[in-house]
Amino acid sequence: MPKIAYLNSRYIEFKNAKIHIEDRGLQFSDSVYEVVPFYNNNLIDFNFHFLRLKYSLSELRIKFYPNKKKIKNVFIKLIKLNKLKSGIVYLQVTRGVQSRDHAYKDNLKPNLIIYVQKRILNIPTKNFTGKKAITFEDLRWKRRDIKSVSLLGNVLAKKEASKKNVYEAILVENNKVTEATASNVWIVKNKRIITHPSNTDILKGITREAIKKLIQKYKLILKERSFSIKELYNADEVFITSSGSFVTPIIKIDSKLINRGKIGNISLQLALLYSNLFINN
Ligand code: PDD
Repeated sequence: MPKIAYLNSRYIEFKNAKIHIEDRGLQFSDSVYEVVPFYNNNLIDFNFHFLRLKYSLSELRIKFYPNKKKIKNVFIKLIKLNKLKSGIVYLQVTRGVQSRDHAYKDNLKPNLIIYVQKRILNIPTKNFTGKKAITFEDLRWKRRDIKSVSLLGNVLAKKEASKKNVYEAILVENNKVTEATASNVWIVKNKRIITHPSNTDILKGITREAIKKLIQKYKLILKERSFSIKELYNADEVFITSSGSFVTPIIKIDSKLINRGKIGNISLQLALLYSNLFINN
């Protein structure tokens, strides 16, 4: 458990960090968040996470205008105060407190919550292993491009995955793969790398964007298009990406082995290239 959290411009003991029972984040999921990884005390892609936070706030018309430098300093201070080296920073902004009513008032005071969690980040080393996944129906609302805490569809799917002792649930809608509960999904077929286009059906992952740049740099072939569950099962390789787990190869989906249950070359290559972006800094 972290020791110190940040709540509305104050550093306080984690166990004393509390929010009102009529906070709209609690009652309506009226709230947005970001998860920013840090490795050896360095924040990874902070600027892109900050831009996406501003996008989520503005799409939901939450009147909170964070200062980039100030937020970054809070992140760095929290990492220090909690004596961590690698992990994630969790930031959440709720629209604020109001007597319960679906329609929000325009003059609310948003609540800002920031804290850190220790994590062993998924760097490809000798023990780098592929993970298993299940497929699950995508039950979510239609604005998945907004990083909101409206996550029940994700929660139910991920619980199903953990009940089956697997790592992730890959979400399927009208027979097409959208993404996973907390990561973007990629397949490789005949050396072509395929991932869902970034529209309102998925979250435009920050890790996804970094991987896209690597694909371009190393002249690999990328197709941004949706793909079917059948293409998923028949892929040469499958991997997922997220700030919490970087590049993670998937070697079994439902009862189907991918690449005979081994990590594929392109997945491994991208995992290495991605971690080299910050390991050697
Ligand atoms: N999840 N898709 C969904 C639904 C996600 O929740 C996430 C991240 C991603 C990957 O985005 P990024 O590369 O920016 O982390 C894709 C975070 C880690 C979470 O909810 O914990």
